[in-house]
Amino acid sequence: RMTTGPAPVSAKADTPIQAETGAVPVMTRDNGAPIGDNRNSKAAGDLGPVLLEDSHLIEKLARFDRERTPERVVHARGTGAHGVFRATADISDLTKASLFQPGKETPVFVRFSSVIHGKDSPEWLRDPRGFATKFYTDQGNWDLVGNNLPIFFIRDAMQFPDMVHSLKPDPVTNRQDPNRFFDFFSATPESTNMLTQLYSNLGTPASYRTMDGNGVHAFKLVNARGETVFAKFRWISRQGVRTLTAAQAGAQAFDYQTHDLYTEIAKGNYPSWDLMVQVMRAEDFAKLDYNPFDDTKEWLGVPFRKIGEMTLNKVPDNFFEWTEQSAFAPSNMVPGIEASPDRMLQGRLFSYADTQRYRIGANALALPVNRPRVAVVNNSQDGQLNASGRSARVNYFPAALAPKTTPAEATASTYMVDATVVARPIAKTNNFAQAGIFYRALPAAEKADLIKNLSGDLGKVVSPRTRTIMVSYFYQADKDYGTRLAKAVNVPMAEVEKAAAEYRAANPEQRAAN
Ligand code: HEM
Repeated sequence: RMTTGPAPVSAKADTPIQAETGAVPVMTRDNGAPIGDNRNSKAAGDLGPVLLEDSHLIEKLARFDRERTPERVVHARGTGAHGVFRATADISDLTKASLFQPGKETPVFVRFSSVIHGKDSPEWLRDPRGFATKFYTDQGNWDLVGNNLPIFFIRDAMQFPDMVHSLKPDPVTNRQDPNRFFDFFSATPESTNMLTQLYSNLGTPASYRTMDGNGVHAFKLVNARGETVFAKFRWISRQGVRTLTAAQAGAQAFDYQTHDLYTEIAKGNYPSWDLMVQVMRAEDFAKLDYNPFDDTKEWLGVPFRKIGEMTLNKVPDNFFEWTEQSAFAPSNMVPGIEASPDRMLQGRLFSYADTQRYRIGANALALPVNRPRVAVVNNSQDGQLNASGRSARVNYFPAALAPKTTPAEATASTYMVDATVVARPIAKTNNFAQAGIFYRALPAAEKADLIKNLSGDLGKVVSPRTRTIMVSYFYQADKDYGTRLAKAVNVPMAEVEKAAAEYRAANPEQRAAN
């Protein structure tokens, strides 16, 4: 029965809730029109179906259906905060980057993260932690996209998707499986240093406030005279580095790190870090027993110089808009900071901006969290969700109708390359020495934790061959380390010695441990 007159109801069904204070805003649809009823769908009478003409209902459900964007393919779980960076030292001898003028303050947004599991995974799982900083400088945005650990598992971007696949849940069972990732790592001896640090208690930080951050790669710094040096960056936590044992970590709430950051900032207990830089010149490289652009190595023994301080003082008003939609990319650099030939960094220069165009969209950098604090002047245009507000007929260059300049100071440094193009591993791989140095520096209790943590996962590996090869790597880093692990995962020492000897025979350039 169709009627067109007023509905036969006695009272308005969507009873308003009394506001505690102030005026009560009128609810509207996305087109701005007022909503008359936000609880009851339009139905054909008491017993009839809901009508397609209820555009408010359809819009509400359709918007809800689209609330998720794809999560980050790695580092999906994270939390962010706003803050400020203050330069404290004159490093104009090293770089022309304007953010380093002493005393200058630059707003920042930082996102901390874990790596492997999904957006809602527990924060206490063993993982490297991401420490990504976006500096909104007056020359555009510089992103320092680092981790708490100073090194990485692999040294060539070609291996990154394989490594991540091995660490992510099994595509059949959807469970992370040490049989898979140790299979990968047993053919990747350069991971020995990173695995040693990851299975130490550094793999379970007490909070995001109490961990250091590392740019990991070497970067090139260029000064106003065009002179170049290579540099590594490190954030040193002013709260001190604090970690948890595996047992302590397992007892934490699934969101303990986000909770800690939000509650400490709310209390006014703002966390802060010192930014340090290490510098090497091309002339220094010959004396190194490793490749300076190998991200599985620290620049041990190279002094750190403090160049600034960062304080985080506000959590975002909206998690999705700021933290989820943030787009950090190593390719976001400013004049005076450039890439080095590090083969991982070179791959990252492509991968981040690429995934963000897919994950967020072509106009990702126009969102408030990603937008530079200086005007963006170029001819890129249109694309999904464009709200540039631009009205200009000249969208090409060069153009006498609306000239624009490209200053010489902003051109990249020049450098000589005289080489045969070839795909082959780097020289001076030196895969084990630094893991041994790290192990020997640990206090006895933390050595025991490392053995326990590592053997806990390695002991689950069914293949004796994989277990033996893995132990032989740790043994080549340090005999005591390898011997204790062998015992913990039931591998005979004679087999370990044999695997280590085979490795050294096949890789004569490797230095023996100790
Ligand atoms: C996030 C790729 C190595 C630190 C990501 C994302 C991708 C990616 C695709 C997701 C980005 C997004 O959706 O916004 C790669 C590739 C690597 C590599 C291809 C090697 C070739 C590294 C290394 C580090 C690192 C060596 C540490 C120095 C991070 C961090 C994030 C991230 C901190 C999260 C950034 C955020 O909070 O949004 N990586 N990554 N990655 N990566 Fe990597």
